[in-house]
This record gives sequence, C-alpha cells and structure tokens, in this order.
Amino acid sequence: MQYKNQQIQFPSIIRLFAIGCFMLLSFQTTFAQSTFTRLGNAGATSFDEGWLFKRYGLQPDGTRLKEPQGTEASGFSDKDWQQVTLPHDWAITGPFRIDLAGETGKLPWKGIGWYRKYFKIAAADAGKKVFIDFDGAMAYAEIWLNGKYVGTWPYGYTSFRMDLSPYLLYGKQNVLAVKLNTEKWDSRWYPGAGIYRHVWLVKTDPVHVARWGTYITTPKVTRQAADVKMEVTVANQGSQEVKATLQTDIFEAGAGNTLKKKVAAAQQKNIALTAGKENKVNVEIAIPNPRLWSIETPDRYIAVTTVWINGKKLDTYYSTFGVRTLEFTARNGFLLNGKRVPIQGVCMHHDLGALGAAINTSALRRQLTLLKEMGANAIRTSHNPPAPELLTLADEMGFLVWDEAFDAWKHGKKKNDYNKLFDEWHDKDLTALVHRDRNHPSVIIWSIGNEVMDQRDVAMTKELADIMRREDPTRPISNGYNDPNGGRESGAVQGLDLMGVNYFFGQQARWDADPRYANMPTMGSETSSCVSSRGEYFFGTNRKNWQISSYDLDHPGWGCTPDEQFRINARFPHLLGEFVWTGFDYLGEPTPYGSDETNLLNFRNDPSKRAELEKALAELQKNKPPSRSSYFGIIDLAGFPKDRFYLYQSHWRPNLPMAHILPHWNWPDRLDSIVPVHVYTSGDEAELFLNGKSLGRKKKQPGKDFRLVWDEVRYQPGELKVMAYKNGKPWATDVMKTTGAAAKLSLVSNVKKIANDGKELAFITLRVEDKNGLMVPGSHPKIRFTVEGRGEIVATDNGDATSFESFQSRDKAAFNGMALVIVKAKKGAGGSLKIKAAADGLQAAQTEILVQ
Ligand code: GAL
Repeated sequence: MQYKNQQIQFPSIIRLFAIGCFMLLSFQTTFAQSTFTRLGNAGATSFDEGWLFKRYGLQPDGTRLKEPQGTEASGFSDKDWQQVTLPHDWAITGPFRIDLAGETGKLPWKGIGWYRKYFKIAAADAGKKVFIDFDGAMAYAEIWLNGKYVGTWPYGYTSFRMDLSPYLLYGKQNVLAVKLNTEKWDSRWYPGAGIYRHVWLVKTDPVHVARWGTYITTPKVTRQAADVKMEVTVANQGSQEVKATLQTDIFEAGAGNTLKKKVAAAQQKNIALTAGKENKVNVEIAIPNPRLWSIETPDRYIAVTTVWINGKKLDTYYSTFGVRTLEFTARNGFLLNGKRVPIQGVCMHHDLGALGAAINTSALRRQLTLLKEMGANAIRTSHNPPAPELLTLADEMGFLVWDEAFDAWKHGKKKNDYNKLFDEWHDKDLTALVHRDRNHPSVIIWSIGNEVMDQRDVAMTKELADIMRREDPTRPISNGYNDPNGGRESGAVQGLDLMGVNYFFGQQARWDADPRYANMPTMGSETSSCVSSRGEYFFGTNRKNWQISSYDLDHPGWGCTPDEQFRINARFPHLLGEFVWTGFDYLGEPTPYGSDETNLLNFRNDPSKRAELEKALAELQKNKPPSRSSYFGIIDLAGFPKDRFYLYQSHWRPNLPMAHILPHWNWPDRLDSIVPVHVYTSGDEAELFLNGKSLGRKKKQPGKDFRLVWDEVRYQPGELKVMAYKNGKPWATDVMKTTGAAAKLSLVSNVKKIANDGKELAFITLRVEDKNGLMVPGSHPKIRFTVEGRGEIVATDNGDATSFESFQSRDKAAFNGMALVIVKAKKGAGGSLKIKAAADGLQAAQTEILVQ
C-alpha cells in the first residue's frame, strides 16, 4: 500500500490555484513575532491560570458531598473553593486506598469536579469572536458562561472548542463554570480526573481560519521540490459576504516553533467568503529542495496563513508540517522516504507517573529522551487521543506515532466505558482527532481501536475506518486485534488498510497466504507484556511480595518475553515491526497483581487458560494486593530504566557498543549458591569473569539468542565483569561490584537549568551509595527532600508499584537504591535552586540548577 503521491480530493467551494514562487511575494509578510506559543489562531492565549475548584460527589475518603444547586450561576458563592492552575488532576493527591481498584491506580478519581473562572474581555473587543479551547477534560465536560449553558464534550481524551461569544459580557466580568463527572466513566487504567490538559482563550475576527482549519499534505515529493497542498477553512461568522486575500508563507521551523528561513509563499485574492459558512480555499505551493522529515533529521516547516480584507489583516494562523513519504507494504515492511524503517515502538498510556494525568511538556520530553536513548522510534498512544504536546514533541524529536481513538466501541469492556457514548459521539470524536492531528509528520497510522468487543463486526469496522479516511486519506487505518483470526475470518479486517495484531502471531503464515489478506501490511500493535520490578531478583520464582523478578522472564499468559518476541519478529521479516507493551510503567493495571476481569477477554478462544486466569483473579480479589501501578514498563514509573531497557537497546541499537550485567552483586545470603548471570549486549559474544577468573565465553545464535546466560555461577562477593565482542573484536564491557554499606546520597538533575515559567520541571535522581560511590542495591532509606531558592517540590517517586506514600510528599523511601524528586521554579524567579536530600545515618547530598 503506497501512501506516496496520494492525491487528495478537495470538496472545495473555491478552487483557486497559486503557484509557490521561488521569488517570494512581498505582500505584507513581515511578522510581529518570529516564534509562537501554540499552533492555530494567533489570537490564542493561555487560559490555565486563576481557576477555582471544588470537588463534590465522591470524596477521597469514600463519603459523598452533595452537589449544591446553581453551581453554574454567576452569583454562586465560591469563596471556599481551592485556587488551582491548570493542567490539574484532582485525583493524584490521593490518598491511595487499598479498597479501590488496582486497575485504576487505587486512587480516588471518581467524583464530580467543578471549576469556575472569572475573566474580562475588553469592551473594545465587542464584535470579536471568543472561543475556549480545551485540549482535554476528564470527563463528561459541561460548560456554562454567565449561567448560560454553552455545551458538552463527554469523551475525556478529545480536544474541543466552545464558542463563548453568544453569552459573553464585553467590558464586564464573566464567570465560566465547568462541571466534570468521572463517576459516569469506567476505565481499565488510571484515567485521571479534571481539566488535566491546557486550556486556551481564542479571540478572532468573525472572519478567521476555523479551528484545525488547515489540512496540509505533500502529494508529490522529489529531491527538487515538494508539492504542498493546503486546504484552508476560513469561517465567515459575519453577516455579509466578504472578499478576502489569503496569504500563505512557508518557513523552515526552528526549535521552539521559531520561524526561520522563508522558503515559499503564495497569495490568493478576491476570495468570496459566504456569510455564516466555513469556506474552503485550496492552496498549492512548492517548496524547492525540501528537507525531508525523518527519524534522524526531523525537519519541519511552518505555514503561516494570513487572512486580509481591504488591506487589513484579520487573522494569522500557524501550522507545522513535514515533508515525507510513507509506504506500507505487505512484503517489505514500512518505508519512510523510500527507506525501510523497522517499527521499534512502545505503547504508552497518558499518565506521567507521580504527576498523574496532568500534562507537562518537560515530563513528556524526558520520557521521549529516554525512549530514544533505548532505540525506540515509535509510540502507540494506547488507547486514546494523546495530549497535543506529545505530537509536537514527536514531530520535533523524530518519533513515528500510531494515533489511537478508542478502547471500546458499541459493546464495552466495562459498564460505563465508551459504549455509552458510541452512538452519539464516535463520528465527532474521530473527526476531532483527525482534524487536530493530521498535519503532524510524526503521525503515520490512525487506529480506530484496541481489542474492542466488536472487532469481528464488518459494518462497524468499515464505518469507523471510512470516517477516518473521509477526513484523511493519506494514512492507513488500523485496529489492534486480540482476536486476529476471528477478525480476519469474519472479514472485518478487510475494512482496514493495515492489520494490527496484539500478541498472537501464531497463524500469520496462513493469513499471508489468504488472498484476502496477502497484500495487507501487518504489524505487532502490541507485544510482549513482560513484567518486572526494577532492582528485584528472585531465585526459583518470578513473583514475591507483590514484586516481580527483574530477570525479564515473566509475562501474563497472552504475552511473551522480549526475546521470544524478537524471535517471532525474525520469523516474519516482512512485517512492519512492533509496539511493546509498554515503554513506561503507568498508574493502574498492576497485572499480575490486579483483579480486573477484563483481562479474561484475552482468552476468549482458549477455555483452559481462561479458567486458570479466572482462578487467579478470584484469589487476588480475596487478597487485596497493594499494587497500584503497572509492572509492564521497560522503564519504571519514576523514569528509571529497568534491566529490560538494555535488552531492547542491545537489539534496537546494534551499532551502539554496550553491555549490561544483571543481577546486582550483593548476595551475602547466597555465598557459594547459584546466582544466574544474564548479559544484554549489542555484541555477538561475551566472556564473563568473576574476580578475574573466566566463567566462559558464550556466543549468540543469530535470530535465536538475544541475551547471554551463565546459569551456573556460584556467588562470591567481588567483581563481575563482562567483555563483549562483535565479529571477534572487543566491543563493550560492563562491571558489577559488590558494594559496601550505604554511606551517602547523591543527586543528579536531568537538566542544568529551568525556565521560570512555573511549568518547566527538573527531574532529579537520588542514589543511595556506598563510600566508593557504588549504588547500594536493596537499600530503602527514608529520604527527606528540600528545596532552597524560589522553587518547590512538585512530586516525589521511587518506582515501587506497591508504595502508598503520597506522590506529593517530600519524604520518600528509596526503592532499591533510587528515588526521584521533581522540582520547578516559581513564576518569575531568578538565581538558582538548591535541591537537598538527607537520610538518617547517611551523608547528605545537594545539587543546584539555574533558573532563567
Ligand atoms: C492488552 C491490552 C492492553 C493491556 C495489555 C496488558 O490486551 O490491549 O491495554 O491491558 O493487554 O498485557
């Protein structure tokens, strides 16, 4: 399937054609700003500050607080409400409760949240349109302005706009009220609660580029030129037809959305914009010698659209895009710009660990930086539309994205999941997703769902896929199947462009030979589901004390080890690649210590495995494990790599010389007993030494071995060293030493400086070390964190899936030698922040970061 040279059909009213000129048109193209803060209309400002919040309905302790009448009214007394700044997740403050469901993080996220905000719009703005844009609000958002009902958007992951203009008092005080109700929502993971993404106030002229009103494609790309097609939707909310000029300027994009060199421009005059309508205008423009967007060189462009009437600029609209070609083939995988790229992806849920669901760009950037370091090149936004910031970062950092809509369709997995919204909302939610995300070069695949109950339904599959195609025919449509044989047998999969298989590749050869699917590009939309706890190693068992051994050999019945998945992938080299479940640990779904019965859905065709799991779940329901976050992550909840990180790195970055030994080497209770040693290396051979004595050289069998294992090592304290080779030549080494007792703490920040915008975060890693600076395994001292200077501790974590310590606490027990403190500077602060860590009996540590 080729998505190269795809022609887009424009259902346009106006078909104006303008050629991009190398001699750029000079029509008033100077811009006040050379950077912008947000894509879309330039008249957008952040609306995150100055909100009031009150929680009704279910309270954190399980009692109920009755929702009063008239909460939306202008005169309602909100004196005792809490002041909050968005993004805000009302549930992440907990407390954790053992009686709450593990699958949603044992956090009290169900409740009714009300937000109110007072604001003024200048009298001089009368006649302007005023909109409010929510990037996401969990869930069942209802909005009132000055006591008048404005509208609703129930699905908590969709971005939506409301028009405030009809009820706005220009020059006077306005009161906005937002009600959210998570009691009406059910989830298989921690969804968060509240206005957990950014909110924007957008002021425009009645004539303006509509929301998500540019659709940019590059139907023809050669080295000499890229043909850029823009379908621009210009709304005329005035009362008369007007004649407008549309100017398009294309710039190379710099970091932080800076406009760099202008590379093309076009101008269309005399465009009739019908009153009360959204008018489509087609722009065709050529970029000479285009820089292609790729994983290694994620070059982007910015299109600046300006709308003019009688020489007056009425609107400016910013869009970013990339020039690249996509090809998805059944026999030769995925090609980006004509070059084969195996998809080395991870699935990611939307929470940010200790920060909860509240979106934060620094936290996302840290996640993506770590994933890139591991060699991942793709993200699946399981199982819902992501925050827009994720796509902006993916564009900038060079990640491919599988952009997913739903975890349920008409028949739900839980009583109150998307099944309750499906009939009325699926078209609107899918359309919103595609309109918002279709200019991002990182987005390469649309997904209509994940393991939905209706996955065999031919008509429903086709209907959803057709909605996405209607809005964007340039990307393939997929769906993640846990019943891939059923889906293919019924014919439902024929409604898709790309087959997504979750876990079960068993019958791939049969389907490759089936004429219905022989030409269908296919990939592992979800793989492995290996489970482990960082720094825990058990012998003779994988599971103990609600933790899981980090030898990376454990997984639920439907999953497999990473090694096994690599073997499977090697058997089917024509497939596109995989999305591992998951890149990071996430809040909720603590399989195998969760008792969520939706897990049984993975065994719909295997009665014996189903019966076994049913028994295990019944046992867990009785035992009430303390587990509140997942064990699936390759990286733990605090952002610390588990051993598996190096297994993926060894496979995904074969040219990076690296070797990694596990387990740690502090086993005083196992003197002379066997402690198996595993080595992950990008080399093909390695020799292990204990205290200088060789324990033998081992070689990987290509396509079969992905780790080297010394199973007969008898423990002696000292030094374990591995020497890895590639093609017979020394390649990389790693050393693991027995440490002394814990003596001191150390602190290392992921950044040297942070901005004083009240948003940017620094992530500081604490290690418990012996006197020689070696991290002490199995150490769990209680750490007290403090910050000096104009900053604050936002959250702490340690990656322990069973910890009930509050994420907001400044005290945190280290988990296997590590803990995390997340800090930010106060708005407008200068100087520096000193972050300190202390623990009884250990030498304290401090580190400093600059504030600018
Ligand atoms: C899959 C499901 C994911 C997650 C995973 C755990 O079946 O799609 O959402 O539950 O199992 O292994």
